[in-house]
Amino acid sequence: MKLVHLALIPIVSYIVLNQLFSTWLPRNYIFDKTELQQICADAVKTHPNNATAIMYAVQEKMSEVYGEQVINKLNFDDWVFNNAGGAMGQMFILHASISEYVIFFGTAIGTEGHTGIHFADDYFTILTGEQHAAFPAQLEKSVYLPGDQHHMAKGEFKQYAMPPGSFALELAQGWIPAMLPFGFLDTFSSTLDFVTLSRTIYFTGRDMLKNLSHGKF
Ligand SMILES: *[C@@H]1O[C@H](CO)[C@@H](O)[C@H](O)[C@H]1NC(C)=O
Ligand SMILES: *[C@@H]1O[C@H](CO)[C@@H](O)[C@H](O)[C@H]1NC(C)=O
Repeated sequence: MKLVHLALIPIVSYIVLNQLFSTWLPRNYIFDKTELQQICADAVKTHPNNATAIMYAVQEKMSEVYGEQVINKLNFDDWVFNNAGGAMGQMFILHASISEYVIFFGTAIGTEGHTGIHFADDYFTILTGEQHAAFPAQLEKSVYLPGDQHHMAKGEFKQYAMPPGSFALELAQGWIPAMLPFGFLDTFSSTLDFVTLSRTIYFTGRDMLKNLSHGKF
């Protein structure tokens, strides 16, 4: 094969994946962003400012609505750090499959960085604290408060910050494997925290394979 043909492989793959993104892929989605926002808003109202209580309420309601077989039960052993785009946070994986993930993400300490550019739609619903975000040409920040949902469409990117004690429920829908390098590469270029990396790969891979084997793409 000539070199010029090899160069076509990523271009053609991108075109095919991009087509599927708006046609076939959404048929695999089981989570509804509006329903998740409502579940979060209810929990925020019942347990204002208590991240632990809100997360238990959200997880229990999600298990009820979507089925226990697709939602991990919340615990405080399986949390991992996430370093990406210069920001650092803490996360717990509620669901991971090839086309969707749902996690609790936030920070006790506070953080700031680049959102990354993703092959997925991202819905970030605030549970406690707040999130600030801005596009490159936006001189006044957008502020998202508990119950608000920050939607970042595929391909969008911003600077964002979360003050100490801010936590959110994040739903991503799209080509999830394409998002993983953003979440992993800081390990090699910066943190060298292979404990976190291997735990993250283990939790993500386990859920993706389990779900796949039950036909949830
Ligand atoms: C927050 O909720 C947790 C779990 O329901 C509870 O154990 C804790 O006491 C609450 N914290 C505060 C400050 O109310
Ligand atoms: C799918 O993954 C979830 C969490 O991501 C896991 O709890 C569940 O067992 C998996 N579902 C199936 C049907 O294997």
